[in-house]
Amino acid sequence: MESIIKEAVLEQFCSIADLMYQKGWDERNGGNISLLLRGDDLLNVGESERTREYELGYRVPELSGKFFLVTGSGKYFKNIKTNPKENVGVIQILEDGEHYRIVWGLANGAKPTSELPTHLMNHAARLKSDPDHRVVMHCHPANLLAISFVHPLEERELSRTLWKMCAECVIVFPEGIGVLPFMLCGTKEIGAATAQKITDCRLVLWPHHGIFGTGKDLDEAFGLIETAEKAAEIYMKIAPLGIRQSISDDGLRELAEAFHVQPKKEYFD
Ligand code: 13P
Ligand code: ZN
Repeated sequence: MESIIKEAVLEQFCSIADLMYQKGWDERNGGNISLLLRGDDLLNVGESERTREYELGYRVPELSGKFFLVTGSGKYFKNIKTNPKENVGVIQILEDGEHYRIVWGLANGAKPTSELPTHLMNHAARLKSDPDHRVVMHCHPANLLAISFVHPLEERELSRTLWKMCAECVIVFPEGIGVLPFMLCGTKEIGAATAQKITDCRLVLWPHHGIFGTGKDLDEAFGLIETAEKAAEIYMKIAPLGIRQSISDDGLRELAEAFHVQPKKEYFD
């Protein structure tokens, strides 16, 4: 099976996966990534190519015909860079929006991530608000998990806490962070619930499990998670000591104005 994806695109995807592993965000097979491929990311997709077809179990007609580079289910992040063909693959959503086919990679019978429902539903939701959207990234960073045990699981309150942990937060994710209740992962139900949140924010926390971040490219999704994780790390370090002072609401407003971002108004006191 010849590669149908440009080497540079595959290389960047695998390098980011490796970096996520180095960061400690992706123990074992924890986490998954999907990248919406553009026409010029692909080489010839031969009609005669042997492909495997599967039912999705839900409908994503908005994604009909689209190709995605995705991580495989149960595949260890530490192995992605050295062996992409067994650990990641290219899938195409079929015309009916209810099936997909594997057109490259995921060798030896591997399947795409078990979180494919959330990935595809998130892509469909984000594309509605941002036609340049391309990446959905999921991982298990320790401090974002930790904060979900000790902080109220309330979007406004958690967004404000994270914004106040370092000056860049309100600039990087002015829309705040979405938060789901604890739900069973790997299902279309958690996919639909996440997609509902992700329409107007690019970060959604799955308490006691992990985070979903989205972006126009791999760097943006990675940087978003990296920034939220840094904020959660600071909170986890300082909260036990008692917080004496932090960035005021006026300080947040000033930052937003200077960097031309529009945080959710209702998140300010
Ligand atoms: P997959 O190995 O199926 O991608 O699952 C990992 C994970 O993080 C589930 O939430
Ligand atoms: Zn997970």
